[in-house]
Amino acid sequence: TTDPATETDTGMDTATAILEGLLTEEGSADPFPLFERARTLGPVLPAGDGVLLVTGYEEAERLTRDRAFGIRRTEAGEATGPGGTEHLAQRIISASLLETDPPRHTRLRSLVSSFFAARRIPALEPLIAAAVDDLLDEMAGQAGQAGTPDSGTLGPGAPDPSILGPGTLDFMEVFASRLPMSVICELMGVPKEDRHRFRALSSALTVTLEIAQPPEAVLAADAAAAELVDYFSDLTARRRADPQDDLVSALATAAEGTGGAEGTDARLSEDEMLSMFVLLLVSGFETTASLLGNALALSFQHPLAAAGLRDGTTPLLGFLDEVLRLEAPVQYAARMPLTEGLDVGGVPAPLGTVALVFLGAANRDPRQYDRPAEFDPLRTGPQPLAFGGGAHFCLGAPLARLEASIALPALLKRFPRLRPAGEPARRYGLMLRGYEKLPVALG
Ligand code: HEM
Repeated sequence: TTDPATETDTGMDTATAILEGLLTEEGSADPFPLFERARTLGPVLPAGDGVLLVTGYEEAERLTRDRAFGIRRTEAGEATGPGGTEHLAQRIISASLLETDPPRHTRLRSLVSSFFAARRIPALEPLIAAAVDDLLDEMAGQAGQAGTPDSGTLGPGAPDPSILGPGTLDFMEVFASRLPMSVICELMGVPKEDRHRFRALSSALTVTLEIAQPPEAVLAADAAAAELVDYFSDLTARRRADPQDDLVSALATAAEGTGGAEGTDARLSEDEMLSMFVLLLVSGFETTASLLGNALALSFQHPLAAAGLRDGTTPLLGFLDEVLRLEAPVQYAARMPLTEGLDVGGVPAPLGTVALVFLGAANRDPRQYDRPAEFDPLRTGPQPLAFGGGAHFCLGAPLARLEASIALPALLKRFPRLRPAGEPARRYGLMLRGYEKLPVALG
């Protein structure tokens, strides 16, 4: 064969070829054979340039929890917040809790963790159910229109991107990306009339999370970051003058009147606060949209299980766990050793090593799951690693699960004949796994 990733040697060349393969269009569309190949060579595989590919469940789980490994991507990110505009998007994400280590991480996380605590999330059920109902009504309306512009967000005469043809809608556009944005904006207290630009800005920023970033996308991400920082600076000022019962008001108060962070008794600097707002907006948006799209696509592939969701005979949480296991919206997390002399599953990890923890590979580890590629909502076994682990365990996991567990059955019940209507398009990327377009017909 001519494919270097299928050669039989077990050297670093093969591991490097696997990583290169993962970054191609084809590898991004279907990374699982490459994960499998890496895991067969070793659950932790050195791929040159200090990169380790972690594909075993146990090794991945242990590493995400190991306090000797951190997540810091750049030294600069540690020290700087928004400030200037050069590579603003990267600097904002690097300064956020997602990419900082304790003790800073602990302080930042403690300021928001209560908003997202599992015990608080069920109270959001009515809000989410109402948002779902509104979106389902809109879908029904749009399917009937086939081409009439949506006067809510678009100028008169502009084509509606949700409508792909007569009776055909793009599920990602019309539903999957709207629900998480509307929920997070509600929690944060972003007024409805301001939200229309946020999906585009948030999508533009998401590229910052990927390993490979095309230069024009980096520029677009920086511009989006600048616009969001401006927006949130302004909203913070408004909330300080007139506090509401929302997350922006709470953090604006926590940050008020303080100049810095470390070394002072300040709880949150202005820059940290703005980074937090941008992170919260971005981190739950495309991830949850992907979960909804991946769940619907899998329900099309498994009509019996989907029928069981309609009449309650398929366990909803088991179904969602299988979606999160087989089609994890976040395919990897990165970890770096904080001191010398460490190893990952017996493989040396000197300072400067970057371990790519492939959650999507761990979720198909045959040592943990029988028939790992099979969709089985009744399966027992460990929780899939879709939300990471340890100190950085996804803050929004209970929220994302609740959104999906309300949305999916409601969608399937409202449109019993919902079906695929054309070729779906996957989004390109190694980290985020989901659909760019998922055409559906309502029946
Ligand atoms: C962190 C996945 C939804 C907010 C993470 C991490 C993963 C993840 C894997 C850990 C990254 C790491 O360890 O390096 C997902 C998936 C989601 C989802 C698959 C949807 C299905 C959400 C939502 C929110 C959110 C709805 C909030 C509104 C965050 C934040 C972090 C995080 C703030 C950083 C936590 C920290 O570093 O302490 N997410 N997420 N996520 N997620 Fe999520």
